[in-house]
Amino acid sequence: MKGLNLTQLIRERRSIRKCNSKPVEQELVVELLSSAARLQPSIDAGSWRVVYSGTPEANKRLVDYMFAQISQSKLGKLIPGKLADVFKKRFTDIPGHVIVMSTVGPDRLSDDRNYSAVCAMMQSFQLLGWERGLGMLWDTESMIQHEGFFKGIGLREDERFVGILHLGYYDKAPKSRKRTPAEQKWTVFQGYAT
Ligand SMILES: Cc1cc2nc3c(=O)[nH]c(=O)nc-3n(C[C@H](O)[C@H](O)[C@H](O)COP(=O)(O)O)c2cc1C
Repeated sequence: MKGLNLTQLIRERRSIRKCNSKPVEQELVVELLSSAARLQPSIDAGSWRVVYSGTPEANKRLVDYMFAQISQSKLGKLIPGKLADVFKKRFTDIPGHVIVMSTVGPDRLSDDRNYSAVCAMMQSFQLLGWERGLGMLWDTESMIQHEGFFKGIGLREDERFVGILHLGYYDKAPKSRKRTPAEQKWTVFQGYAT
């Protein structure tokens, strides 16, 4: 994967929803995170932290927290145990999970700045990972956004959960989804709102 130019790298990176069992080295994750963080000027770097889950025991607990609400819901109770286990296993088999939290700011603007600065860092992290053959899925599913999960991952009162990047190597990258041309989102300002 080395040797891709930046445009190619941005274009070719795909979300990986099916990874193989090759272990992910924690050292690589730390290296990629510090490289991604170094790309931000410290003034805009925001305030955030990361919790890493990368052992089978920790990953199992994490996935239990992720699924806690759905398992206890009416709908969840209708899902046969075996099927729920199959669904859970898809996540427990993923070798590494980077859980990202940003600090809640004293006002909306600083809160949004922290949140968006960490999103930018996460995208750089995804791209740097892709360059090393490491695939990721950025997960913000509503299913995981509940108190039990936040408590499980140790989210503090002054923190906002940003997302989890599930990490793993992949055998085959999926095809790209259709993109909206930027022109469709583009207007030239004439000095008044249109
Ligand atoms: C902020 C953000 C949140 C996302 N949350 C989810 C998610 O909850 N579940 C999911 O399957 N994919 C999630 N994704 C991944 C997108 O679905 C994915 O980027 C999109 O399908 C385009 O595919 P690509 O990354 O291969 O280009 C998220 C991506 C971003 C940037």
